[in-house]
Amino acid sequence: MARKFFVGGNWKCNGTTEEVKKIVTVLNEAEVPSEDVVEVVVSPPFVFLPLVKSLLRPDFHAAAQNCWVKKGGAFTGEISAEMLVNLGIDWVILGHSERRQLLNESNEFVGDKVAYALSLGLKVVACIGETLEQRESGSTIEIVAAQTKAIAFKVSNWDNVVLAYEPVWAIGTGKVATPAQAQEVHYELRKWLVSNVDAEVASKTRIIYGGSVNGANCKELAAQLDIDGFLVGGASLKPEFVDIIKSAT
Ligand code: G3H
Repeated sequence: MARKFFVGGNWKCNGTTEEVKKIVTVLNEAEVPSEDVVEVVVSPPFVFLPLVKSLLRPDFHAAAQNCWVKKGGAFTGEISAEMLVNLGIDWVILGHSERRQLLNESNEFVGDKVAYALSLGLKVVACIGETLEQRESGSTIEIVAAQTKAIAFKVSNWDNVVLAYEPVWAIGTGKVATPAQAQEVHYELRKWLVSNVDAEVASKTRIIYGGSVNGANCKELAAQLDIDGFLVGGASLKPEFVDIIKSAT
């Protein structure tokens, strides 16, 4: 079954009001394939979400980079899923490796977050990926399967989930996974979904790749059978993000 190509731009902890406006202007002026062909979602820091949402062209969507694991309340410094819904934000990125590694988010915690965000009607980009040490020790598939299992354990409806495979060693390093390396993991993840969830979910769920994707390497990655799009960090702050969107066709 055809899976619509997905291109996410994760701006991480970057930007000023002026810079954000400039990025949005570039996106708004870009000639890209239609929404029927590619789903484009950009993810500014929380403080810029309302601004981006108000300026961004209607065929592109905004995502938060995180949200709290349950209903909001006395959780200083957190942003709740309810607040995102209230702002009209459709998407949230959860389980990014920077949060897993720097803020000790466990597989279980990420699974809970994904389930809670989905329960409020948000769409989720759920991130998984192995470290260099794990890859070199041959445990890549075991690691990403365990991360996916913790999500699958809590989630019964996968319609609003995009799975983002992001090898930690490829993030922000300029060291992109080869198309074959990425395809191998995406294939194994889809196979895992067939065996542990079901064949329909496996064939419908988009599995996107993230890690040093840029305007020059996106075409070859996009051509892989099980790569359904990208989650882009550094290059999503630059005009070349438009070329990455165009790799959908
Ligand atoms: O969320 C995006 C990923 O962390 C990739 O970041 O494209 O800067 O390597 P990068």
